[in-house]
Parts: sequence; structure tokens; C-alpha cells
Amino acid sequence: TIFALQSCGGKTEKVEETTTTEQVVEVEDNASNEITIESNDQMQYSTNELHVKAGEVTLTLKHTGNMEKAVMGHNLVILKSGTDVNAFGAKAAEAKASDYIPASEEASIVAHTKLIGGGESDTITFTISEPGTYDYICSFPGHLALMKGKLIVE
Ligand code: CU
Repeated sequence: TIFALQSCGGKTEKVEETTTTEQVVEVEDNASNEITIESNDQMQYSTNELHVKAGEVTLTLKHTGNMEKAVMGHNLVILKSGTDVNAFGAKAAEAKASDYIPASEEASIVAHTKLIGGGESDTITFTISEPGTYDYICSFPGHLALMKGKLIVE
């Protein structure tokens, strides 16, 4: 990761048109492993893409709305690579007793916040050691259609 920082020097060198993709450019030197994402009464996350580096991550989910948890509850569930998101969501929707975290699917979960209502927030810390792209969703029934995104681990 430090290599990327050094490539951001002042000179404009557009000479290296030789190899691969330009995705490397998106590595930001201010990328933080303390991230905050908001959710609202319109059943939306504030972003559908989160970036961290492999290692320990601290994530805060805020609910900026006013509606109660039972009506417009939100959580953020990070799923392991290869998880069938819709199948997981279907199982989660049945798991009301456990705030829509299905015990039968725990092997598919990297980490999750608790379920929160308007004005609340939850902060979790977890370790994600494998770089890759991970789906995250809100597992409250019906929210998955709008409330989903990608956690990109570099
Ligand atoms: Cu939600």
C-alpha cells in the first residue's frame, strides 16, 4: 500500500500507458479503516461503496431518520465472498426474533451491526484480512432491494 502513496508525486507522468487497469489510481492515501455510513427513513444508505484496507476495521452505522426500529430498522451485515445475497436476505427476513440475523446463516457473515432505529447508531470493530469485494446489506425485511453495497478491501 505504501507504494501507491509514492506514486502520487507532483509530476504528471502519463507515460505509463503500458499495463493493466487504472483501478490502482483509486487508492487514496487518506483511506481510513474507521468508516461511517448513514441510513435514513427513505430506506437508503448514504453510500453503496465502502473502502478499507485489510486489517482491523471500525464501522459506525447511523440512522439519521426518526422512524422506529420496528418500522424502519436498519443494520449493516457484511457477507462473505460467494454468499448468495438474495438467499441470505430471504433467510434473514424470517429471523425477526434475532433482529433479522439468521442463526442458520452465521457462517456467511463477516460482521454485522445491531438493528437500530431513527436517531440511533452502532459501532462495531472487526478484522477482515482477505482483500476482496464483500457485499453489505440491511437485512430488515424488504430493505435489501435498496440497501446494499460493496465493501472493497484493499
Ligand atoms: Cu434497513
